[in-house]
Amino acid sequence: MTMRPFNILNLILISSAFSLLEAKSSNLGTSSDKAHAPQLAQGGRLFKIHCATCHGSEGKGVVGIAPSILNKDFLALASDEFIYKTISKGRPGTAMVARPDLSADDIEAIITYLRNSTSLPPDRIRVDNTLVFSGDKENGKPLFSKFCSACHGPHGEGYMLGLPGTGIGLPGFLEIASDDYIFQTLKQGRLGTPMQPFLGSTGLANLGKQEVYDLIAYMRHLGETYEERMVNTPVGPGNSKAGEIHYNINCAACHQSSGRGLVGLAPAIRNPDFLAIASDDFIRQTIDQGRAGTGMMARPDLAPQVVNDIIAYLRKDTDKNQIVHVDPTKQLFGDAIAGGDKFTRYCASCHGAKGEGYSANMPGPGIGLASFLDAASDDYIYQTLKRGRNGTPMRSFLGASGLANLSDTDAADIITHLRELGEITEAPANTGASDFE
Ligand code: HEC
Ligand code: HEC
Ligand code: HEC
Ligand code: HEC
Repeated sequence: MTMRPFNILNLILISSAFSLLEAKSSNLGTSSDKAHAPQLAQGGRLFKIHCATCHGSEGKGVVGIAPSILNKDFLALASDEFIYKTISKGRPGTAMVARPDLSADDIEAIITYLRNSTSLPPDRIRVDNTLVFSGDKENGKPLFSKFCSACHGPHGEGYMLGLPGTGIGLPGFLEIASDDYIFQTLKQGRLGTPMQPFLGSTGLANLGKQEVYDLIAYMRHLGETYEERMVNTPVGPGNSKAGEIHYNINCAACHQSSGRGLVGLAPAIRNPDFLAIASDDFIRQTIDQGRAGTGMMARPDLAPQVVNDIIAYLRKDTDKNQIVHVDPTKQLFGDAIAGGDKFTRYCASCHGAKGEGYSANMPGPGIGLASFLDAASDDYIYQTLKRGRNGTPMRSFLGASGLANLSDTDAADIITHLRELGEITEAPANTGASDFE
């Protein structure tokens, strides 16, 4: 038997397995304000559902995937507003996507949870967000190359390049991080992570104050020139090696390593039966627009090259001869009422009574949701029913070799019923408001 290397993917698997499968009692403080108890419990629940897949069930983070957020040094520096904005606006270009689907109350509950973990002392370091340091970006540039780029990337791209540090040159971070927040991070470091203190004689590099101001000026410059660099980067064909890195950072938390999916969480997207019928444009559209009402967030922030690379990785092992022509213009009309009965009989046990899917704790995806039905043509659904998805609970249902020996008429009836469902179901709207917006 050969041992598999213990790599980052295993860590993700373990952390997601912990967060999803193990209903661990939450790590809440006993000293916390009783009045906050329901909010605290709610925050813990939301953290496990929405955050633990990447940040780990203990919030310790995974180097190269997501930073530690139940971290004493981070929480000492980060204001509630900083955390609030990070969650609501996200960090474009990284897996930390904006979460407009979480209400202000939800986000505040998560912050309460983060602030009340027993292992953390209550002391906060005063960060003066009004301070603006005056530094010289030209002096900062060589310092950045020497001390920071090995972990954070030459332009502060961070995880994007498969590196251990976060995207400190990206606008999403720089817009909410004040000069003093960055200064204090360099002074403190982040206990338990590769981020060491750099300032002063006890720091890693004995940097002086002015040197840190210069570094900050250079980081601000990186943020301001980010768009320009992106626009000027030519888009080429996908590279599957780069795609694997982007996949592991952005997609594996849900679709799992090697894209094999997890029943009840996310479909298998490196599955040959899926790749045979999904065109590159279908995949591109799914990434760009997401599937409203599901865990599949829209990622318009991913650069076109990154998307090409991910698609190349997904298709790396597929045989071109297996690709099936799906006609997106073909329409199948059937009897919606008969289709409803057949759906209830053959599909609802996995996809939910109204095709709500995972959101209703079902093993299959939300095929009754408008967001899926907008992306999927009739022929795409028909071909799925015909072929099934080998290796997943989704079997072939059509014809003599299918699970239920359904006819083409049955398929048309079911598809017509699904189209009706798509018109009724709507993604939940976020109506919350907050002080920080
Ligand atoms: C799909 C993975 C993923 C999920 C899910 C996720 N995050 Fe993140 N998070 C990240 C990444 C990646 C970063 C760092 C981005 C960067 O490079 O700046 C991050 C950064 C953060 C930061 C900033 C930390 C710092 O050091 O500045 C906070 C706070 C945060 N996330 C909170 C949350 C919360 C709360 C949730 C749940 C609502 C959540 N995240 C869900 C991936 C994720
Ligand atoms: C040995 C690798 C390494 C080096 C070198 C390094 N960092 Fe970091 N840095 C990290 C990691 C890892 C994190 C995220 C820590 C966590 O998990 O919370 C981080 C976090 C940060 C953050 C906080 C980002 C946020 O999202 O809140 C800042 C700011 C930062 N680093 C700046 C710098 C600067 C400036 C330098 C150069 C002087 C530098 N780092 C050098 C690894 C490194
Ligand atoms: C937070 C979890 C999560 C992350 C992260 C995520 N997805 Fe998804 N993805 C889902 C879910 C859930 C669905 C199924 C949605 C539904 O019910 O229709 C899905 C569906 C898809 C589909 C359609 C599959 C099908 O069978 O039609 C594709 C393609 C896809 N995701 C690609 C990606 C890519 C590429 C990434 C990374 C850039 C990614 N996803 C990141 C949760 C996620
Ligand atoms: C035993 C459980 C089960 C049953 C019964 C079932 N499905 Fe599925 N179905 C799944 C799972 C699980 C997936 C996701 C497969 C994967 O991981 O890629 C899926 C995927 C699909 C997809 C692709 C969704 C996408 O995002 O691309 C369609 C369409 C679909 N099923 C339609 C149906 C219809 C119609 C029926 C009834 C005739 C049905 N299924 C019955 C479990 C089931």
